[in-house]
Amino acid sequence: MNTLVCANWKMNQTVQTMEQWCTDYSHAQSTHRSDVEVVVCAPFVLLPALVARAGGMHVRIAAQNVSERAHGAFTGEVSAEMLQSIGVNTAIVGHSERRTLFGETDDDVAAKVVRLLALGMTPICCVGETLDAYRAGKTVDVITQQMHAVIKKMNDAALTDAHTVARLVIAYEPVWAIGTGLRASAQEAQEAIFVIERMIAEAFGDASRVRKLYGGSVDAQTFGAYLDQPSIQGALVGGASLDSGHFASLVRIAQEKHGARI
Ligand code: PGA
Repeated sequence: MNTLVCANWKMNQTVQTMEQWCTDYSHAQSTHRSDVEVVVCAPFVLLPALVARAGGMHVRIAAQNVSERAHGAFTGEVSAEMLQSIGVNTAIVGHSERRTLFGETDDDVAAKVVRLLALGMTPICCVGETLDAYRAGKTVDVITQQMHAVIKKMNDAALTDAHTVARLVIAYEPVWAIGTGLRASAQEAQEAIFVIERMIAEAFGDASRVRKLYGGSVDAQTFGAYLDQPSIQGALVGGASLDSGHFASLVRIAQEKHGARI
């Protein structure tokens, strides 16, 4: 299974800084390897210009959100079809900032996952517990509930064939580790992701083709330890992805680790 290194720029960059990032990343990147996939999740307005530059950088471009609805009177929303029409086939859904700051529920997030899967697209679905839940030892309860909503909606929509399930990407991102410099240990991340893996295997028969990522203050010092875990196939990287050189070094780490694993 390919390793996945995803940049999440959040609400950062303009067309001008994005152009500079692309130029710098192109210079900094190492040799392209097809077994390590690089994804840049960018604000909507930057997507067309990024798509035009994606091939030269060997990266895939993704959105940071998508509507669960097909079309209609939903001012300010962007549909999955709109993304597809500009060549974007991947989107983050249910990032904790969307859940906590914009009130997205487990059901909303699951509906977005299903919308993308139904159109042959790739959701990077984020799950993870708050600091209070972590301290109360409720990590497994929270991610079980979040994953249950996704699995239920996939079952309801009959999106359960092996090909479709394999498109799903799950990012375990403890809310308390995002942008804080705190992080779950590699062992904690492995334990949480193992729960996710088991739920997917129980629901769909096989979890081996579903990529599971860790996210939360990942940087070049810490990335390798996560990749050493048996259930982790990559990372969703916020702050450290804004620096093109730092992000290129994460891609290099993934390439070295992947090379060592096969
Ligand atoms: P961070 O963000 O790497 O800045 O903690 C990760 C994310 O929110 O996806």
